[in-house]
Amino acid sequence: MKLSLTLLAAAAALTPCLAADPTWPSSIDELEDIMYLTQGYRKRTFTDSVTPCDKSPNTAGRINAAEWIRTAFHDMSTADTYNGIGGLDASLQFEIGRSENIGPAFETTFIFLQTFLSVRSSISDLLAMSMYTAVRACGGPIVPIRAGRIDATEGGATGVPQPENPTQTFVAQFLRMGFNTSEMIEVTACGHTIGGVHAAQFPLIVAAGTQKNEYGLFDDGTQAQSKFDHGIARDYVLGNTTNPMAVGISVANKRDSDGRVFSVDKNVTIKALADPVVFQERCKVVLQKMIDVVPPTVNLTEPIKPYEIKPVNPQLTLVAPGTTLSFTGEIRVRTTVRAADKISSVKLVYKDRDGKAGGTITTTTAGTGSGFDDSFTFYKFAASIDSTKSISSFTVEVAVTGGTTETHDNNGKGYLVEDSVILQSPQSCLELFTDADNNRTLTIVAAKRTAVAGTPAVDLASLKARPNGLVVPEIVHSTLPMKAGKAYGPYTLYSATTKVGSTLSLRSTFDVTLGTTKDVFKRTSNLPNNCVPFGEETSTTTAPPTSSTTVSPPTSTSTTPPQSTGWAALGCYTDSTTSRTLPHIASPAGGSATLTNALCQSTCKSLGYVLAGTEYSGECYCGNYVSSTAKPATSGCDMACKGDAAEKCGGADRISLSGFNGAEAVVSPVPASKEVVAGYEYKGCFLDSREARVLGPAELAHDALTLEKCAAFCEDHGYKVFGAEYGRECWCGSELGPTTEVGEEQCDQPCGGDGSEACGQGDRLSVYVKA
Ligand code: HEM
Ligand SMILES: *[C@@H]1O[C@H](CO)[C@@H](O)[C@H](O)[C@H]1NC(C)=O
Ligand SMILES: *[C@@H]1O[C@H](CO)[C@@H](O)[C@H](O)[C@H]1NC(C)=O
Ligand SMILES: *[C@@H]1O[C@H](CO)[C@@H](O)[C@H](O)[C@H]1NC(C)=O
Ligand SMILES: *[C@@H]1O[C@H](CO)[C@@H](O)[C@H](O)[C@H]1NC(C)=O
Ligand SMILES: *[C@@H]1O[C@H](CO)[C@@H](O)[C@H](O)[C@H]1NC(C)=O
Repeated sequence: MKLSLTLLAAAAALTPCLAADPTWPSSIDELEDIMYLTQGYRKRTFTDSVTPCDKSPNTAGRINAAEWIRTAFHDMSTADTYNGIGGLDASLQFEIGRSENIGPAFETTFIFLQTFLSVRSSISDLLAMSMYTAVRACGGPIVPIRAGRIDATEGGATGVPQPENPTQTFVAQFLRMGFNTSEMIEVTACGHTIGGVHAAQFPLIVAAGTQKNEYGLFDDGTQAQSKFDHGIARDYVLGNTTNPMAVGISVANKRDSDGRVFSVDKNVTIKALADPVVFQERCKVVLQKMIDVVPPTVNLTEPIKPYEIKPVNPQLTLVAPGTTLSFTGEIRVRTTVRAADKISSVKLVYKDRDGKAGGTITTTTAGTGSGFDDSFTFYKFAASIDSTKSISSFTVEVAVTGGTTETHDNNGKGYLVEDSVILQSPQSCLELFTDADNNRTLTIVAAKRTAVAGTPAVDLASLKARPNGLVVPEIVHSTLPMKAGKAYGPYTLYSATTKVGSTLSLRSTFDVTLGTTKDVFKRTSNLPNNCVPFGEETSTTTAPPTSSTTVSPPTSTSTTPPQSTGWAALGCYTDSTTSRTLPHIASPAGGSATLTNALCQSTCKSLGYVLAGTEYSGECYCGNYVSSTAKPATSGCDMACKGDAAEKCGGADRISLSGFNGAEAVVSPVPASKEVVAGYEYKGCFLDSREARVLGPAELAHDALTLEKCAAFCEDHGYKVFGAEYGRECWCGSELGPTTEVGEEQCDQPCGGDGSEACGQGDRLSVYVKA
């Protein structure tokens, strides 16, 4: 397989591929990244699960690539092209219980795909992409991928071809999908060139106990690898096939559908497919046809091609006091044709908001990445621009060693930079801490040019888990009105605040809009945890200051602050950001500004905790035990509560503890890690952070998380490593990213679903690796 991939890549490199880029920005931009950035800098991990081609989701006897292709077929194959209904629309996610969709393949595929779901990447487009990726990873042709499919919101018709169907039923079913007889033979052979039949689901095709791993491969008896090749057709024609759907017990059991399908035209089509070149050419055509079966209401785009030049996250941000804008981002240059080492410089030449020459912005290399057939270098820039003159668009100049300079002008339009309304990322935040309802507060701040009419708003696209075990979340759109704040230079700040559920909250995206003008596709996962008021950008630290001199001195000498009924003060204890004295961070109703000890106590009580602690004037923590690192402190709990200056609410690294109903500050019988969980071995407690995740991309947030659930989730995604964090988060990855191992006692948070198990801590992962 390696050899054929290299040859194909070399062939692709020889073809001059400098066709015009799509005009940026485009609806395909997110899918283009997922498709082409598979290695290196800014890598998306879509291909990892099918690299190598025979990678299994968990145990031997399953192949991800085969499951993805079969999933795409089952999703499409209920299409009724006579009446323009169905097609590749992800309706299969609602049809998994049906007898025509048996086996674990479909759910596993949707669990994988949903981690890439966004407003710019529907599950059905991702399903098309998974077919492309699986075929490509297994050495098959480059199937052109169009985008624009729309996901169904409920199950559709039945009608997936079943092996026991009469031959004429197959012909009729494929005609309904839009495939004539020869295309039926081709697409079935192209699908059945990788993977095989499972005895567990199809015992009348593969008898139990007869095949390695109870899995009878279509065209490779060794099971050493599966390859996208003409073997299935060649062996059928030669008469030495081992395809369990053409020979063996399936014949007597009338389940030999491949044999009956292949011979329906007296072997004419299958004979042609026995030629390796014909096989690849025809598969490219019919597999594209398969994913392009969509209802007439869907308009598919032109096939996705890699951009030669692509701006990456260009962002204007107003900088205090308002006289300048910072303009940051990267330019991705395709280096497949113009070699990276031949590029001497990449510059942006921009126009001001009146269309007059603005200036030149230089770049420096940020990293290199690659895909199956392409390579890219990213050039980063950070410029300061006069906020009055501002910027409206830029062109990109790529200077190549030897004197030539390419100017890229986005098909004559220039790369537009919208300055009327811009996201103010430093002032925006998604709070790390959840409130009593397990929601997080999301604050979005935008700057609008005061002279431009209108009020900005936020278009928020959140993900919401679907009920009844459906694995793909739903995208829920909401519009948040924004309130005007102060003006700075030519801009006025606006803000919107909302609650988002904690689960999936890191996967929301949003646009800041001003009528049809937009700053689009921002990710909540890229927002800081803390909103920094405009002009105070330097104090970005979330840790309490080491000295408490910045805090207003207590205004009262009261020593017995009011407690909530049933609660008693337990005194002042030490705390630290690296090992929390109480594990649960609560955000009481009314927020930090109203915090009192009684409020923290009632919040903790409503969450089911018997210990409460206030800290640093406005923070509230809950738990049932204190961490082993907590020690009684003789001083330091001297900061006034934000909600009542007469009370003390802890201090810097000091927590004012209280207990309910006689509860005391005792160390827990520590929830323990397990030596082995479902074949994963414990490796220790490791640091994690939201800015640089150690594991990913798959993430499950689950209030009743157990180590076993997390292991199962990651195993289904095909990941070797899982980590449990913060009692309820489960992270999967192929390997552990850069991190540091810390003391075992720091991963002491009980798993939400089993208090005897340890599931990390805030920013601490209990890490397990497949043996
Ligand atoms: C007459 C039409 C077809 C019938 C009756 C049929 C039936 C089946 C059956 C019974 C299996 C075994 C599934 C398992 O044990 O997990 C299978 C596997 C598979 N089918 Fe088909 N199929 C048909 C056409 C297609 C087409 C058109 C494609 C895609 C282009 C396709 C792709 C696959 C793949 C990739 C597998 C392997 C799955 C794995 O190894 O997990 N099939 N098919
Ligand atoms: C099926 O359609 C293809 C493409 O339109 C055509 O080339 C082929 O001859 C057709 N086959 C049959 C059996 O009609
Ligand atoms: C069938 O025969 C061909 C030609 O000898 C060979 O390449 C192929 O591996 C054989 N297939 C099987 C399943 O033995
Ligand atoms: C088609 O090929 C199969 C397998 O080689 C063979 O058994 C069958 O007789 C052939 N059918 C025709 C009509 O040639
Ligand atoms: C597809 O294009 C037609 C014609 O331009 C348009 O009326 C329709 O709204 C489009 N559909 C979608 C889903 O964009
Ligand atoms: C916040 O939590 C409450 C209670 O669980 C829930 O009803 C509400 O929908 C949540 N809000 C959001 C935006 O998720």
